[in-house]
Amino acid sequence: MAEAPVVVAIDGPAASGKGTLARRLAAHLGFAHLDTGLLYRATARRVIDAGGDAADGAAALRAARSLTAADLQGEGLREETVTAAASVVAANAAVRAALFDYQRGFAAAPPDGAPGAVLEGRDIGTVVCPDARVKIFLDAHEDVRARRRLRELLQRGAKGIHAEVLRDLRARDARDRGRAAAPLAPAEDAFVIDSSTMDADEVFRQALALIDTRTTIRK
Ligand code: DC
Repeated sequence: MAEAPVVVAIDGPAASGKGTLARRLAAHLGFAHLDTGLLYRATARRVIDAGGDAADGAAALRAARSLTAADLQGEGLREETVTAAASVVAANAAVRAALFDYQRGFAAAPPDGAPGAVLEGRDIGTVVCPDARVKIFLDAHEDVRARRRLRELLQRGAKGIHAEVLRDLRARDARDRGRAAAPLAPAEDAFVIDSSTMDADEVFRQALALIDTRTTIRK
């Protein structure tokens, strides 16, 4: 019987560096990669495009149920309005339930026959893949995360100032951590990496060393 795919779960707050780490690990290991935040962003985008309100549960659920693969490649998923609306739809338990099977399916049978999958989000280690072989919770001081996010914004040509970015980040973190449905929290068996004083290379090395101790995959 073929071995079950190796699942690497990466959770953490906004701008903790999850995306950079997840992409790099997936490329290095030859694993499939799923940024689960895109599912919530695409749901929010659909609600906004239909002229709806992200806090309208029925509209958000309709949007989540009608997502297609093309929506995940959609334009503007990183815009600030979509970012804020995504954390509102993500607090809706019915929306989360509607997006669950897709995420589980991806982990159980990664596309293109990849031997494993890296999933990044907020509840991968706690809810979506509680049996993941490797669980990483990537954190960083909020001030560091706000500085990173601001740098990203400026690099994309968008505008921003530190105080505003920090305020938005705090509001989003509070919603993601404080919600009743699958709140952001490290799984009990997650390995916590605080990247406040580390660069991306160092985070990658630590994560890879951990994966090495939990799997036989060598690259
Ligand atoms: O990771 P991100 O910033 O793209 O996520 C967008 C929003 O979706 C964020 O507010 C948290 C939410 N989210 C979630 O609740 N669960 C996930 N597994 C991934 C994202």
